Amino acid sequence: MQYTQYCDNYDVLSDRASEQLITLIQKKPDATICLATGGTPLLTYRYFVEKINQRRIDIEQVVFVKLDEWVGIPLNSPATCESFLQQHIVQPLDLRPEQLVSFQSKNVNEQECERITEIIARRGGLDLCLLGIGKNGHLGLNEPSEFLEPFCHISVLDEKTRHHDMLKTAANPVTRGITLGLKDILNAKEILLLIAGEGKHDAVEKYLTAIVTTAIPASFLWLHSNVGCLIDSSQYPDK
Ligand code: GLP
Repeated sequence: MQYTQYCDNYDVLSDRASEQLITLIQKKPDATICLATGGTPLLTYRYFVEKINQRRIDIEQVVFVKLDEWVGIPLNSPATCESFLQQHIVQPLDLRPEQLVSFQSKNVNEQECERITEIIARRGGLDLCLLGIGKNGHLGLNEPSEFLEPFCHISVLDEKTRHHDMLKTAANPVTRGITLGLKDILNAKEILLLIAGEGKHDAVEKYLTAIVTTAIPASFLWLHSNVGCLIDSSQYPDK
């Protein structure tokens, strides 16, 4: 199934996205779910946590996978994707440490990529990958380029990404990231792309043309047969 749904506002989008996560967990209590970080999914995660707690949904067997991480800053720095997921998912849901599979942020190399890839494979792959789109059209930290990498890798960040809001508190400039690759993402059984947040008009417009190009890594999602895309129409109205 491929669908694009315009939601009245960020609140409606976040409510729907959280509901989709919950539906999956109810269908598959040992689901493996990959999560993006950043401003886009923030409210989705709040609603998700609230619903899990209110409805007393058992998430003991669910495993979350961190989509990407900034390289070169300590993992416990408030700027990392790790701190984001700890604060918004792990702590409020009281998850066990092994329920979050996540990249290290320092001294990472090929082995770190292999470690994460193997864990995902052992769990039978990703059941769902929840994504945001970057201001430059990136997906995870797969940056626009002449070519894209299929597998987990260390990427050189685009100028725009180096100034991502999350990095405002980073003690030193961040120029690299570690991320699942395009094929890792496309291998997920289900994909949920959230489009919200400021400054993405150009990237969103190009994404919506459905032309697949390495200039907009998110456009590769058009090759997947089970992608839901929720758009905050208060910012990105249907044309
Ligand atoms: C960062 C994150 C990604 C996220 C993207 C979009 O690169 N590491 O996981 O999808 O930014 O961020 P935002 O939602 O803040 O626009």
